[in-house]
Amino acid sequence: MARVNQLIENEDYISYLDKIDFLERERLFCKHGFEHGLNVARVAYAYLLEKEELLLPKEIVYAAALLHDIGRWVEYETGEDHAEASTRLALPLLEACSFSLDEIQVILKGIREHRRHPEDNLSLLGAALALADDWARDCHSCSAQARCYKFNLTMNQVVY
Ligand SMILES: [Fe+2]
Ligand SMILES: [Fe+2]
Repeated sequence: MARVNQLIENEDYISYLDKIDFLERERLFCKHGFEHGLNVARVAYAYLLEKEELLLPKEIVYAAALLHDIGRWVEYETGEDHAEASTRLALPLLEACSFSLDEIQVILKGIREHRRHPEDNLSLLGAALALADDWARDCHSCSAQARCYKFNLTMNQVVY
């Protein structure tokens, strides 16, 4: 996991997380900082293990999950869809951490797809991120349930 550890220490990565933390400081709903990325990584990887879809190395899954919302601050500032912004911002970070072109293509596709419906003919990584993005949330004990558009009974029942 050397390259993922390198990503976590990357100055630009940290600066994007800082911007997100600042812009979400008064947000009632789920936030999109480092903790969310790590939760999505763990759940997506567990999902792939359980499905016995071992085609994706752990480093690929973790890198994609840690980067999938990195463009949230761009969406807050400009209105650009954050899946697109995250995909753009992730490219130089992945290059800096020595991911290969083939690996980068898989990761960027997964990030770009993470907001789509998991059954919408997505790549394996895109579907894992889309599912984990919901399952990684702690809806069960959330005080904002009643006002959250994402909350539904299914999420309330998920214990992943
Ligand atoms: Fe997202
Ligand atoms: Fe997310």
